[in-house]
Amino acid sequence: MRHLLAIDDLSRDELEEILELTDSMVEVSGRSIPKVPALRGRTVVSLFYEDSTRTRLSFDSAAKRLSADTMSFAVSSSSVSKGESIRDTVETIEAMGMDAIVVRHRSSGVPAQIARWTDASVVNAGDGWHQHPTQALLDAYTIRRHLGSLEGRRIAIVGDVVHSRVARSDIEAFTRLGASVVLVAPPTLLPADLSPWSVDVAEDLDSVLGEVDVCYLLRIQRERASESLFPSVREYTARFGLSAARAARLGPHALIMHPGPMNRGVEIAGDVAEHPNAVVTEQVANGVAVRMAVLFLLLGPGRLDPAPQRTTVEVEA
Ligand code: CP
Repeated sequence: MRHLLAIDDLSRDELEEILELTDSMVEVSGRSIPKVPALRGRTVVSLFYEDSTRTRLSFDSAAKRLSADTMSFAVSSSSVSKGESIRDTVETIEAMGMDAIVVRHRSSGVPAQIARWTDASVVNAGDGWHQHPTQALLDAYTIRRHLGSLEGRRIAIVGDVVHSRVARSDIEAFTRLGASVVLVAPPTLLPADLSPWSVDVAEDLDSVLGEVDVCYLLRIQRERASESLFPSVREYTARFGLSAARAARLGPHALIMHPGPMNRGVEIAGDVAEHPNAVVTEQVANGVAVRMAVLFLLLGPGRLDPAPQRTTVEVEA
């Protein structure tokens, strides 16, 4: 793998390989010193033109757990504010030495464009409405940890699909790994053309609750919407929000997932975010391990060091 730009670029075998390697990274992360020297001497740069908490911090943490050097680029305090172009910015950072660049941008296609300009590996950390591949990997990994496999599972993706790069990546990853997906949203929050995907559509959340293994909630992306796409937030929540009453109608094994950041009281009730089957913080924790796996596959030597042997130290009385 040279870059990670979109889930569509990965075969089912490649997806499975990343998920299996993530198991090893979870083991590393559970050690008393959660660090291996796999990427010592390598440099990973974060180039975020759009806000992020989870993705930026977890890539940083993932790189450090693999002993890579990291550089973080804050657009607001950089020469971008003086008009420096993306290309000049990338070439400037590359001149300092980098092996991988993790990019988030509000415009679709920017990570792919950067991949044409640099010899470094490029990881898409979210581009516009297009893709967020590591989010889909961590979501698939979280489902696999709880349900064993995605094969034959039924997953509802609920809410603002049209503006969601997470939904696009998740649909591709989940279906490629054998799950069936039902999109639950008002027509105004669905893409006009669903033909590239093999998905079902429902306008009634209540009608699917009893049949799904995963209820995946999306945030209303007001920053990307240019017009009012539903009458009011209150009406949206009444029809599509996961209330405690609705959560009680999910199967006992069904997972409640959200990519974050959550709008409590809109797409998910505050108490539902704390439900025993809600795995939102686990998704975040798995994000570090998944990103370790991705960076390792892009930059690593091809094998992980085994877990250190436990040693005992005798102390004289
Ligand atoms: N899920 C996600 O991408 O969160 P951030 O925007 O905080 O990175």
